[in-house]
Amino acid sequence: MQKFLNHKIFSIISETADQSGIPCYVIGGFVRDALLGRPCKDIDIVVVGSGIQFAQEVAAKAGRRKIKVFKNFGTAMLHFKEFEVEFVGARKESYQRNSRKPIVENGTLEDDQNRRDFTINALAISLNKESYGKLVDPFNGLSDLENKIIRTPLNPDITFSDDPLRMMRAIRFSSQLEFQIEEDTLRAISDNNERISIISKERIIDELKKIMLTQKPSSGWLLIEYTGLLPLIFPEIEKLKGVEVREKIGHKDNFWHSLQVLDNVSKNSEDLWLRWAALLHDIGKPATKRFSKEHGWTFWGHETLGAKMIPEIFARIKLPLNEKMKYVQKLVELHLRPIALVSEEVTDSAVRRLLFDAGDTVDDLMTLAEADITSKNEAKVKMFLANFILVRQKLKEIEEKDAVRNFQPPISGEEIMEIFSLPPCKTIGDLKIAIKDAILDGIIGNNHDEAYAFMMEKAKEMGIKYPT
Ligand code: CTP
Repeated sequence: MQKFLNHKIFSIISETADQSGIPCYVIGGFVRDALLGRPCKDIDIVVVGSGIQFAQEVAAKAGRRKIKVFKNFGTAMLHFKEFEVEFVGARKESYQRNSRKPIVENGTLEDDQNRRDFTINALAISLNKESYGKLVDPFNGLSDLENKIIRTPLNPDITFSDDPLRMMRAIRFSSQLEFQIEEDTLRAISDNNERISIISKERIIDELKKIMLTQKPSSGWLLIEYTGLLPLIFPEIEKLKGVEVREKIGHKDNFWHSLQVLDNVSKNSEDLWLRWAALLHDIGKPATKRFSKEHGWTFWGHETLGAKMIPEIFARIKLPLNEKMKYVQKLVELHLRPIALVSEEVTDSAVRRLLFDAGDTVDDLMTLAEADITSKNEAKVKMFLANFILVRQKLKEIEEKDAVRNFQPPISGEEIMEIFSLPPCKTIGDLKIAIKDAILDGIIGNNHDEAYAFMMEKAKEMGIKYPT
């Protein structure tokens, strides 16, 4: 901790505090992270007095820096080197039932610590000279930090009902820091889960993104499920839960499977969107589930339906409707393709078609498809993984040879129109498709000369006249 307090910004703040005779503390996430040895760039400073005025004094001392004042919140912000320092007066908060916006009054440090979400986030360190570096820890936050426990400082029912976002924060911290949520705190999340309805979608997705980026995101999702938050914030994932048995035939629990795939992908990739694709790859399964004597359980078309569901889901949970959404959609749509490929003989043309359809997502698609192999049958898993190595090799060879990954037609529509003196019409499209298929099927190479010769043949077959 001392190491962090040696930073110049703290000595400037400390001097300012002593000159103005104001009690001053660093508090919250910065203290927590410093004690855990995690890097943190956001410093929260609490003073018993006016945060804005104090920030102005610090700014003057720090070489007349600019501060950003948020009058409505009574806070001010200052950039100092790599840090973003926020100043606020100690406050007491009381909440009304329908809003997470508290009624705020000036208060003591103790009031300020009481209003915080978790004991590990209520730790304060004095910055005044006579007590510099002294930890103020009324709720045994340090011991919770050492024992890896998330616990609310006050009655958890009040803490969560006051600000239900804290239920998501508890789960996020538990997943991020690999801490356990203390029993009564966990019980209170279940009891207050419906209060999540007053939290904006934007806030919820912020927490979900953080959970998705943890080392083992399933731990966060399992808590979301356990506490009954899942149907309230993500009904489509809730529907993946459960196993149905008919005529002694069961299917796998798609919720568990999706979490396993998510964790598998997370071992190999930090990419948020690939992780979303992993979680959502089977999202179309509940709606396509059928049972027949002949085939047992089937989920035919779940990849197509799943891909169709993505825009609606993204819009509702406030993920962006941009190229990231399209990327997730593509992976969901194509997730069965690599496995279908290794189930049969790996032909060049099947590999070419996969490269053509997947384009730049092909490597991520392979990572997802590999992660999707969660069978309990070890021999089966081994066989599939060995075949995947073969497919990756083939993908590389064929891409080097045929460059179909970002396929550009070797003959453009304009050229075809010119050669045959045709206006824009369906024939142009038919010829382009015939050329593309011939390349993907390996009948001709991906170059202008072979494509030209093939096109002339095809045009003759189709009865298209060559102008004389
Ligand atoms: N806090 C709170 N209730 C919330 C949000 C924040 O009590 N719903 C308090 C906590 O004391 C927290 C501090 O405000 O430590 C700062 O909040 P924030 O910057 O959002 O979170 P951090 O705890 O710093 O963690 P992270 O940056 O990972 O979100």
